[in-house]
Amino acid sequence: MNKVTIIGLGYVGLSLAAFLGTKTNVVGVDSNSERISILERGKSYFYEPKLEYYLKKSMNKGLKFEHEVSSNTLSSDFVFVTVGTPINNDKIDLRNIKNVIQKISELLSNVKQCPSIVIKSTVIPGTTDQIIKPILSEYGLKEYIDFNLLTNPEFLKEGSAMHDTVFPHVIVIGGSNEKPIKKLVNFYNCVYPKKQKIIQTNNITAEVIKYANNSFLATKLSFINSIANLCQRLPGTNVDKIAEVIGMDPRIGNQFLRAGPGYGGSCFPKDVQALISFANSVGYKPDLLDAVKRTNLDQITSVLNLIKNNLKTLEGKRITILGSAFKENTDDIREAPALSIIDALTTLGATITAYDPEAMATARTIFGDAIQLEKTNYAAIENADGLLLLTEWQAFRNPNFERLKIMMRNPVIFDGRNIFDPVHLRQMGFNYYGIGRK
Ligand code: UGA
Repeated sequence: MNKVTIIGLGYVGLSLAAFLGTKTNVVGVDSNSERISILERGKSYFYEPKLEYYLKKSMNKGLKFEHEVSSNTLSSDFVFVTVGTPINNDKIDLRNIKNVIQKISELLSNVKQCPSIVIKSTVIPGTTDQIIKPILSEYGLKEYIDFNLLTNPEFLKEGSAMHDTVFPHVIVIGGSNEKPIKKLVNFYNCVYPKKQKIIQTNNITAEVIKYANNSFLATKLSFINSIANLCQRLPGTNVDKIAEVIGMDPRIGNQFLRAGPGYGGSCFPKDVQALISFANSVGYKPDLLDAVKRTNLDQITSVLNLIKNNLKTLEGKRITILGSAFKENTDDIREAPALSIIDALTTLGATITAYDPEAMATARTIFGDAIQLEKTNYAAIENADGLLLLTEWQAFRNPNFERLKIMMRNPVIFDGRNIFDPVHLRQMGFNYYGIGRK
């Protein structure tokens, strides 16, 4: 049985630990002791469907947690590095990953073993060969003798992280030598007996694949949001119908064509920006990506204009926000459209009441008492002058509209995710406004 160490227990690292722990010997490491003590109780410190189920299953099979990398945790066949690579002043911040690699190098220089260090964190092209490898070399460590170094970007989505980890659509492995790549391929073939699609390449290509993948999806979203904005000016059009039909073209595909308030989360905004900055640094001006980013930022303004045009003034108005998470099935509000929209609405004088099935605690850390967070969607809607839906939670899809109409001071619905039926709502006497559904 292989021994695996996973350093950095965020969405990627923890999902991987929870899954691999059901198959093999795993130690998860995170420098945040508070998180470790929560995990040791079989609990997750963030909401992610099915994560605790796998966590408990793995812990029963011996999954262990540590709050620092030690020579013991490092005596593994594979050391997956899954620490965060945030953005700082529009550039990727590699401090976490450099610290981890330094620590690994220090420990490795005192023992005789040759683990495969697998970089799963999203890193700008060239990081593995030009930044990580030199750190290991500075400690006198030799590749293929003291360590192997591989890249293995992750494609899981928050909200379906466990599903995506258990059933990855592809596994990409970058490396500079066939033998260590094969070792990881064999490991994955044991973990995934159904034989997943495994693509082998070099480190820098694997790094670019990750950015290209996220940037392409972000491009699709900005594209459909542009079409939605066009529809907004063309009475009778419906962006959902357009997305449905173009999505039938297998060359386009039907996913990531839902118009909305723009993409958020901890990945797309950060990765598109990091790729733009990286491209500029190597002398290429990525006009398309600049436009993708700009279109996404403008989408917030489009949503605000929808509200302003219909309510005229926001001064003293009570607006209900349903959903603060950046998407459904997560309590993550990082870069969520709700953040800038709520800020703008309060600046314009509106009072905000909000509800999210899972993201209330995280919303409280950002907004404190500046907005009123309620325990149910109905409590949030009471006396509202307008309802703005921002996250497409299942629980929001079929409310009792009769009840809403009675509860609201002004029955107007701004459907930021196009989840309601406009015809039905208009028949019921609501003023309904969707995105690109004129
Ligand atoms: C994204 C990628 O989809 C993953 O493949 C990748 O591994 C991950 O980033 C990462 O780099 O770690 P994630 O950010 O978790 O995953 O969530 P997505 O489901 O991609 O959603 C991103 C944003 O796009 C959300 O704000 C979502 O609401 C928005 N979106 C998505 C739409 O507005 N419309 C759609 O049709 C789909």
